[in-house]
Amino acid sequence: MAATVNIGRSVAETIPAFDKTITLEEVSWHDHARDCWIIIYDRVYDITDFLEEHPGGSDILLEYAGREASVAFRGSGHSAQAIRALDKFCIGELPMHERIFRKPGGYRLSDLPE
Ligand code: HEM
Repeated sequence: MAATVNIGRSVAETIPAFDKTITLEEVSWHDHARDCWIIIYDRVYDITDFLEEHPGGSDILLEYAGREASVAFRGSGHSAQAIRALDKFCIGELPMHERIFRKPGGYRLSDLPE
């Protein structure tokens, strides 16, 4: 059966898992325009080559360089196409003890109060 993208629920359900574990501390070192990693739904993305292509501009992405950007990503109302675009930048995921969403009993952003 073809995979479905349901943007009303967690992005985590739409993207295949990646094997490499990367810690929050390691992500934090990649915090500038020539080396920019961000975290969305516990997955780590190297978006260095995407900064200049982002339809929302590079400045907004650089605000999250080296940091957690799940709420910002979700809050900007990205399309299903944008969610699919994430996939090609994924380089790994947080260790289980550093995750917020993709762990047993983790949050969905749709669970958060208005
Ligand atoms: C790798 C991560 C990201 C990807 C692949 C991505 C992709 C996209 C794409 C394809 C669009 C065009 C509209 C759409 O299809 O939804 C867009 C728009 C936008 N993005 Fe991102 N985005 C990313 C991260 C972020 C982050 C972290 C923010 C932080 C707030 C952000 C803010 C915006 C905004 C504000 C727009 C609207 C621009 C406009 O319509 O003027 N994006 N993004």
